[in-house]
Amino acid sequence: MAKRIAVVGTGYVGLVTSVGLSDFGNYVVGVDINTRIVEKLNSGTATIYEHGLEEYLQRNLKTQRLSFTTDIDAALKAAEIVFIAVGTPPKEDGSADLTQIERVVHSIADNLDAFQVIITKSTVPVGTNRWIERELTARAPGKEFAVVSNPEFLREGKAVQDFFHPDRVVLGCESEKAREYLEDVYRALNLIHVPFVWCNLETAELIKYASNAFLATKITYINQMANLAEAVGADIHTVARSMGMDGRISPKFLHPGPGYGGSCFPKDTRAIASTGDEFGVDMSIIKEVIAANEIQKERVAERLAFLTGPLKGKTVCLLGLAFKAETDDVRESPAITIVQRLLEQGATVNAHDPEAAHNFKALFGDRVTCFDTEFEALAGAEALLIVTEWNEYRNLDLARAREVMTGNVIYDTRNVLDSEKATSLGFVYAGIGRV
Ligand SMILES: NC(=O)c1ccc[n+]([C@@H]2O[C@H](COP(=O)([O-])OP(=O)(O)OC[C@H]3O[C@@H](n4cnc5c(N)ncnc54)[C@H](O)[C@@H]3O)[C@@H](O)[C@H]2O)c1
Repeated sequence: MAKRIAVVGTGYVGLVTSVGLSDFGNYVVGVDINTRIVEKLNSGTATIYEHGLEEYLQRNLKTQRLSFTTDIDAALKAAEIVFIAVGTPPKEDGSADLTQIERVVHSIADNLDAFQVIITKSTVPVGTNRWIERELTARAPGKEFAVVSNPEFLREGKAVQDFFHPDRVVLGCESEKAREYLEDVYRALNLIHVPFVWCNLETAELIKYASNAFLATKITYINQMANLAEAVGADIHTVARSMGMDGRISPKFLHPGPGYGGSCFPKDTRAIASTGDEFGVDMSIIKEVIAANEIQKERVAERLAFLTGPLKGKTVCLLGLAFKAETDDVRESPAITIVQRLLEQGATVNAHDPEAAHNFKALFGDRVTCFDTEFEALAGAEALLIVTEWNEYRNLDLARAREVMTGNVIYDTRNVLDSEKATSLGFVYAGIGRV
């Protein structure tokens, strides 16, 4: 049976969830406090870049199973199920700031009437869903509800694909009635045999943090191995490929780079370290990962300066600003630290990114010039620095780059270019973990 659903927060997670759940045949109202986002979405324009998202958005708006509103009270009153998908950014001390969650929970309490299933998709520290239960009981006494933890694992850049074909769906659910609702909501995934993990609230919350912290650790591990490969004259790609052939290791997340970024790994690693401190449990591995990742980002500008000589007065062309390819998201992108260091050292930064330039400009304004094409950004540059692994950079016309650049240094922090070709054209080429 199709369910009436409110999804609160229509950012990366909430928008994909709204569109996906309505495509499963449910009636979905996406709620956001941002009027501009709501207006754009109702007009059929996706507010984030994700492959295929706009088509799904338009299709489901047309069926009238999907709409967006700023009226949270009306949306909550009409819903049998509420998904919470608001942000949980880090506080100064690294712990998660739950202000947005708290505000939504209070709205839910104010509007609670008949039985409602409240599902947390936002990444929240262990114990938060238990707190939501207590808060709703205290603020809406006698009302019937069930709280479920349903952490989201989508990857930005592959969000639509991940929504429709997740590796697993984790459901911290302790109510039989809520379980029946969830089986209806996710029936389409059951049909394609997606594994469902049913567990208690705390287990579901910890699965999310344990997964993200593990992936951040794997990236950091291969980054440090790449640095060592450079020092000893080994090739990290052969090392990583061979490691990945071992079924116990898997080849995924063994690509060295300028450090992990994005809206999840940095904040989730800091949050789980903070949870460890709170409970007096040693999280030293994750703390080392956080520190090593900062060093990896700092290393980029240092190594570039080693290749070019002092950066003062030099023009550097940065290709890629998003924290990874196929997204316009620049939150905690390594490019931010790198550009800051380049500017501090007196370099001029010209940049290009196929999707993320507008978001980066919002952070740096006129301090960075963003161009529409790679070659405009490369013109007059002494050095080329590749920071994001966009496919279109893999086949960059290096001969033309050589013509328009005034210098000949390439530092490829994603190892996307053909190093032999670059060298044969007279470039001084450096990658990560390669000799
Ligand atoms: N982005 C990802 O790849 C990803 C993946 C998995 C999990 N998560 C988690 O999901 C959560 C959301 O992440 P995101 O990247 O979608 O965040 P986001 O910042 O893109 O979106 C949050 C949205 O919530 C809205 N909002 C804030 N307060 C609100 C309120 N009171 N009522 C209605 N709307 C409100 C904001 O306007 C914004 O549009 C976070 O906890 C994050 O850690 C994110």
